[in-house]
Amino acid sequence: MNVSISDLSHIFIQSLSGGSGIYIDATAGNGYDTLFIAKMLKDDGFLYSFDISKKAVNNTEKLLFDNDIKSDNIKIINDSHENVDRYLIDKKINAAMFNLGYLPNSDKIAVTKAQSTICALEKILNMLADKGVVTICSYIGHDNGEEERALSSYLLAFDKKAYEISKTEMMGRPSAPVLYLIIKKEAI
Ligand SMILES: C[S@@+](CC[C@H](N)C(=O)[O-])C[C@H]1O[C@@H](n2cnc3c(N)ncnc32)[C@H](O)[C@@H]1O
Repeated sequence: MNVSISDLSHIFIQSLSGGSGIYIDATAGNGYDTLFIAKMLKDDGFLYSFDISKKAVNNTEKLLFDNDIKSDNIKIINDSHENVDRYLIDKKINAAMFNLGYLPNSDKIAVTKAQSTICALEKILNMLADKGVVTICSYIGHDNGEEERALSSYLLAFDKKAYEISKTEMMGRPSAPVLYLIIKKEAI
């Protein structure tokens, strides 16, 4: 059995969040993460999926349609995840997923970049509910590793009193993607 970094992100989200409250798919892409969240969403859950690529938005809408998901609780937004705070005002986020890089089988024009990824992550972390969770699939080979290095430095310096941060990597596969898991600790 093969378990990819993306599969692991689903396992973490599934086991650490219950389908209620606000979910973010920060990079909708072909819609697989959005579909995964949509399937676990309860009536009191709401999902915002972002992508700067119109093609990705169309692919995601089609995947939901093909899987008979017709929920008023899902909003797919053709905008950068950096603008998350324009859509969620005074809201707490329960779980967010980033799957970085470019749309598979595309011209690679729309690609995540260190500065906008970290800007979006910072905004999401500031809006994260207690026990809220964020996963980030980060690709070492992407961008000559620039985005991954920036993300790693940012997270290393992050406030460990308020957030639990771990990193999963595939042993013996130095160029495989890595997975960051961030959990906001409960305020005492
Ligand atoms: C690896 S794909 C995501 C895969 C997707 N989660 C799935 O399940 O199919 C990365 C996506 O990030 C999108 N992207 C790049 N920069 C972005 C940004 N600033 N805001 C939102 N999406 C962005 C790309 O257009 C691409 O569709």
